[in-house]
Amino acid sequence: MTLTITRGQDPEATRRILAGLPSWFGIPAANEHYVTAAGEKDSYLARVGGATVGVALVDRHFPETAEIHLIAVAPEHHGSGVGSALVDALESDARADGARLLEVKTVGPSHDDEGYAATRAFYLARGFLPLEEFQRLDWDGPTVIMVKPL
Ligand SMILES: CC(C)(COP(=O)(O)OP(=O)(O)OC[C@H]1O[C@@H](n2cnc3c(N)ncnc32)[C@H](O)[C@@H]1OP(=O)(O)O)[C@@H](O)C(=O)NCCC(=O)NCCS
Repeated sequence: MTLTITRGQDPEATRRILAGLPSWFGIPAANEHYVTAAGEKDSYLARVGGATVGVALVDRHFPETAEIHLIAVAPEHHGSGVGSALVDALESDARADGARLLEVKTVGPSHDDEGYAATRAFYLARGFLPLEEFQRLDWDGPTVIMVKPL
């Protein structure tokens, strides 16, 4: 089936995708924050056969930089290039709009978790570099900031 990436918002699909990823998105209040953000932020949707199977939300804190606020792909589509296609699309738009660095925050390596180790492997494969790990930045444990020159 053909994968297409579009710029557009789909909070309900975001809610469904997050609900299917309880090992990563298991805190209901945090998920509600993401669903609200999915209707407000710059958003990219991955569609397969008419269904939204992936979403990425982007923040621009400064003109020179962009941040992936959220990226999530429905579990049955993991490992088939959907996340990479979302990152390619948002990178190319951010670069065209003057951004020179892309940032993402995720759970840091000092927290022993197989799921987030896979998430970091995905970012590394996409060319991100780990910059620094902080404790209690956006949750009770470690957060690593990863960056990619655009
Ligand atoms: C992280 C996520 C968005 C990646 O999307 P995806 O569609 O599964 O990723 P892709 O198929 O595009 O994989 C791209 C690369 O990541 C690497 N990768 C993906 N999953 C991996 C895994 N489980 N272990 C190791 N490497 C992995 C692959 O090596 C691949 O590189 P390659 O193309 O050079 O072979 C998706 O798996 C997901 O939604 N995970 C759960 C939620 C999450 O972690 N969100 C981010 C929170 S910060």
